[in-house]
Amino acid sequence: MKKIFTLVIMLELSLAIAAGLARTLQAQPKDTVKSIELPVMAFDLADGPNRDKAAGFCAVCHGVEYIPMQPKLSKAQWSATVMKMVKTFGAPIPQEDADRIIEYLSDSYGTGK
Ligand code: HEC
Repeated sequence: MKKIFTLVIMLELSLAIAAGLARTLQAQPKDTVKSIELPVMAFDLADGPNRDKAAGFCAVCHGVEYIPMQPKLSKAQWSATVMKMVKTFGAPIPQEDADRIIEYLSDSYGTGK
């Protein structure tokens, strides 16, 4: 009699565990689609002549935030940076546009030299 009682208790226990497990599995379906929100980096290039050329040509491979991220550079340094983008990295910028961009960069992000 005692044995049967123990058996019934154990059976009920395992049923309760199984029911709990089933509930847990139901609450966390495996292929739930989750969405996350990425931070937005808000920045803008300084106003000035030829700003749009810089915004257009310099955002092809990386963000234009690379420009304000630099310390103030001289015109020669900006020229070297832009020519590195063209010659080393293959930026498709016609020389005429590159010259205007260099002027814009040294006017807006330059040392004044
Ligand atoms: C053909 C692709 C391409 C274009 C277009 C481009 N860049 Fe770059 N730029 C790179 C790569 C590659 C790096 C170096 C790797 C990195 O830091 O992501 C870089 C890095 C930079 C850096 C970081 C400092 C340095 O000297 O490496 C600055 C500043 C920069 N670019 C400015 C510009 C400006 C201004 C323009 C527009 C005239 C421009 N880029 C257009 C590819 C490009």
